[in-house]
Amino acid sequence: MTDKYAVIGNPVAHSKSPAIHAAFARQTGEDISYAAILAPRDGFRPVALAFRDEGGRGLNVTLPFKVEAFELATDLAVRALEAKAVNTLKFDGAAIFGDNTDGVGLVRDIQDNLGCAIGGKRVLLMGAGGASRGVMEPLLRERPAALVVANRTPGKAVALVGQFTKLAGLSPLRVAAQPYDALGGAQFDLVINATSAGLANEMPPLPHDVFAPGALAYDMVYGTDTPFLRFARAQGAATADGLGMLVEQAAESFYVWRGVRPQTRPVIERLRMQESGAGIPGGDA
Ligand code: ATR
Repeated sequence: MTDKYAVIGNPVAHSKSPAIHAAFARQTGEDISYAAILAPRDGFRPVALAFRDEGGRGLNVTLPFKVEAFELATDLAVRALEAKAVNTLKFDGAAIFGDNTDGVGLVRDIQDNLGCAIGGKRVLLMGAGGASRGVMEPLLRERPAALVVANRTPGKAVALVGQFTKLAGLSPLRVAAQPYDALGGAQFDLVINATSAGLANEMPPLPHDVFAPGALAYDMVYGTDTPFLRFARAQGAATADGLGMLVEQAAESFYVWRGVRPQTRPVIERLRMQESGAGIPGGDA
């Protein structure tokens, strides 16, 4: 019997996840269906549980429901506990397993697809919301030389860094919070935009000299050339949007559900060819 999966969000019509998972299913021969479910903003829980009760095996969860999915889960992966958010639910009888594949998706795209090793690098992460929290631990796990979190509201970056300094047991020298206007002079090999600024055609107030020679600028938004990516290109940095992260997080969810790891490269290449200016966060299935 075909196993049912879906992505649940609001809005969800833009989602590329059904096409991605259909491609994974064809590639691996797994017998699954994958739909998109629009839940009312105040109605995540009943819609998710109704899907489960009708035989659904798992859900990808996108904005604005990742924290509610975290609360719905009866068992949590460590990476979901640390992110305090869930983008993957797996139903098994009465148990609801919650996982978060966004961070590993980002790290795999940067390292495996874009060929930029994170270990030993100076990394600047912009933003201190849910998108940043979801990628902190997977980035730290790669042992960058430094991970600096900058945010428009500096107190949120301080709180985020405090949470992960404790959790990862790392020296505070390796991970720090800094306001944008205190970055002057510091250079980074990898600059990641985890803010939602690009969706409003804006960018964080980043100094010009922040990119080290050969730096990679990564925007977790996909489908649009954000002001941050244009700025980075003008400074001579290599650039990437979040499409690869989207496909990698999907592949990890597929693995969580099916125990089979699909190949991501052909799927990324096909989506690139079809790209249509959506402007969606890459961790946002
Ligand atoms: P998400 O869960 O996607 O991270 P969020 O929790 O609303 O969404 O966080 C959005 C992030 O983008 C925040 O870090 C926000 O900065 P503030 O904490 O100061 O609000 C950041 N952000 C949004 N628009 C921005 C802009 N124009 N310039 C700089 N940062 C911006």
